[in-house]
Amino acid sequence: MRPLPLLAVGTLVAGMVTVLTGSPATAAVNRYEAETAPAMCTGTIDANHAGFSGTGFCNGDNVVGASVQFTVTMPAAGRATLGVRFANGTTTGRPADVLVNGTRVSTAAFGGTGAWTTWSASTLTVSLGAGSNTVRLSPTTAAGLPNVDSLDVDTSGSSSAGTGRPDDSNIQYYGRWSRSDPAFPAMGWAGGYLETRFTGSVIGVRQRNAIDLYYSVDQAAPQWRRNVSGNVTLASGLTGGSHSIRIGYRERAGSYTGDPVFGGLILASGAQTAPLARPANLVEFIGDSITVGQPNANRPFTAYPWLTAEALGAGHTQVAQGGACLVNQDCYGMVDWFRRSSAWVSTDDWNFGTYQATAVVINLGTNDVGHGVSTVQFQQNYVVMLERVRVAYPNAEIFAMGVFRNRYVPETRNAVAARTAAGDAKVHFVDTTGWIDPATDTTDNVHPTDAGHVKITQRLRPILDQYI
Ligand code: GCU
Ligand code: CA
Repeated sequence: MRPLPLLAVGTLVAGMVTVLTGSPATAAVNRYEAETAPAMCTGTIDANHAGFSGTGFCNGDNVVGASVQFTVTMPAAGRATLGVRFANGTTTGRPADVLVNGTRVSTAAFGGTGAWTTWSASTLTVSLGAGSNTVRLSPTTAAGLPNVDSLDVDTSGSSSAGTGRPDDSNIQYYGRWSRSDPAFPAMGWAGGYLETRFTGSVIGVRQRNAIDLYYSVDQAAPQWRRNVSGNVTLASGLTGGSHSIRIGYRERAGSYTGDPVFGGLILASGAQTAPLARPANLVEFIGDSITVGQPNANRPFTAYPWLTAEALGAGHTQVAQGGACLVNQDCYGMVDWFRRSSAWVSTDDWNFGTYQATAVVINLGTNDVGHGVSTVQFQQNYVVMLERVRVAYPNAEIFAMGVFRNRYVPETRNAVAARTAAGDAKVHFVDTTGWIDPATDTTDNVHPTDAGHVKITQRLRPILDQYI
């Protein structure tokens, strides 16, 4: 496993001492101008409405998604109060998602300010990682953004300590988590996980009903705790300043109806969580049992999606289900199901504004043959799939793998070619011929062994590495 970005062990303690002794806050307010690179503005930099700072402001195009993005540099991970300086000369709000490092953390209303020359600040507090962070404002209505002048980042006086509860902003979630019960966010697909840093010598997790969970402290090899519920102690006797914890759950699928929910961390008395930066890339793997890693006991973390993304230092998730097809014909068709929040509720559409994948890897077609899907149907559906992934993730690199069983491979390649011809420059066919030997690298001619997944990882990783 590639090491997680580390927060210097002394940082938290040093920060606390600074506050306790009443020394002046070390960080002041940094202003980032919308007209100054690396900031990006989907629109024009204008200067026709007075009152802006710097040399201009971003007048975003008046469409959904026409965003402004700032790059914020932090000396260390921590909390920051963001102040977006904006003007909205209309009487209608211009709501926008606020995405930090690609993950939506909030929605800003951007109500009318009375005139285009009247500038106002919209503030919110977020967790940022050490080094570069992106802060993107992405409008959710056709009116687009207000005019955006600048972003103020205030790190003085903000505490980075968290409670370990599910809504603690120090806890980073990967994958699709339902918040319908805020006390128990639920992992909707395979391969979701969460992670943070924490202080104190013990760490536990609160569960609801029985579940198989795995965890890893300080990036050690994951350990299983099978069929646990209630308060579960994961590690004790830890020494040193702070530690990282990652927790994930066995996927709820087939006859396994465990309860993959996270009820919060159980910290030592007086202990707290601390920020852990998200990696720059997030890879979503869409597929069937092969992508889940079934039937291997240590899935998801022995399966090629997990291994490949970890090797690239990327976040990841497996939007995949055993037995799934591409086409929704007498089968669990991922062309529709990949848009859902979970693998088991067909009516709950996922909000793709929650996070943006930087890469999507599709491995589908192994099962369609058993459901009478014609080659023509397959190719048409694959084009639709690629179109839908593009709508969900406008900037992602999309990879369509030929399946290892050599089914519908020309059609997969043709679908990619059709999308390329239609102007999508970020879609790629992945030829997997010869990657694994069904006789020695699978359990049943279909499902790769753990060693088979390692072989696939060795081939896939360098391909993804060229693009992300
Ligand atoms: C006017 C105004 C622009 C603004 C635009 C809008 O054209 O001059 O600065 O961006 O309205 O409604 O978005
Ligand atoms: Ca505008």
